[in-house]
Amino acid sequence: MKKLLIATNNKGKVKELQDLLKGVDVELLTPADINLNLEVTEDGATYIENASKKAVAFAQASGLVSLADDSGLEVDALDGAPGLYSARYHPKAGASDADRRAYMLENLKDKPRPWTAHFHATIAIAINGKVEIAEGACYGEIIPEERGSNGFGYDPIFLFPELNKTMAELDMETKNRLSHRAKAVVNAIPFFNSKMGR
Ligand code: IMP
Repeated sequence: MKKLLIATNNKGKVKELQDLLKGVDVELLTPADINLNLEVTEDGATYIENASKKAVAFAQASGLVSLADDSGLEVDALDGAPGLYSARYHPKAGASDADRRAYMLENLKDKPRPWTAHFHATIAIAINGKVEIAEGACYGEIIPEERGSNGFGYDPIFLFPELNKTMAELDMETKNRLSHRAKAVVNAIPFFNSKMGR
């Protein structure tokens, strides 16, 4: 069976991608499985640039087909911020996901609700010196109090209004039907089936 490296050190993303890719006919590996310790600086101007840079760096370091995800949360009342900078959205270095959620709520507190927002995901797959791209998005709103304990990042303050549930209140199966990353993976499935053998 062909091998596919999940090119991220984010444990939340690894869990979701392992579940999302379970129907694909490849052996999934993580950087830890192959003792690969690689940090890639995300200095691109777009999600595509960052995802491609990560996928190519992990593919070159491992010799394996590698899949990277670059994602972010875009809040309309913050003019699309933090977007590409979602993982670093805090003035202090070493801030946690909880610090970033609190910082976002602080920046939103004087803005009228609803605080509409969407998550964006770009997946890049580096294979044989080429990069394949697939993208997805999901829409909801930011709420002023945290709800739920599943997931990671901004999940506890991102609400799907039609379900009245935050992403952190969804089980993995539901998040993996609705999320930006799920939609990007669905868009990548034809690529897997044609290029990675089925
Ligand atoms: P990056 O793709 O490594 O630049 O990180 C994207 C950042 O966006 C993550 O660190 C999270 O803060 C946020 N993010 C991306 N996807 C999700 C998600 O599914 N739930 C919550 N936060 C997310």
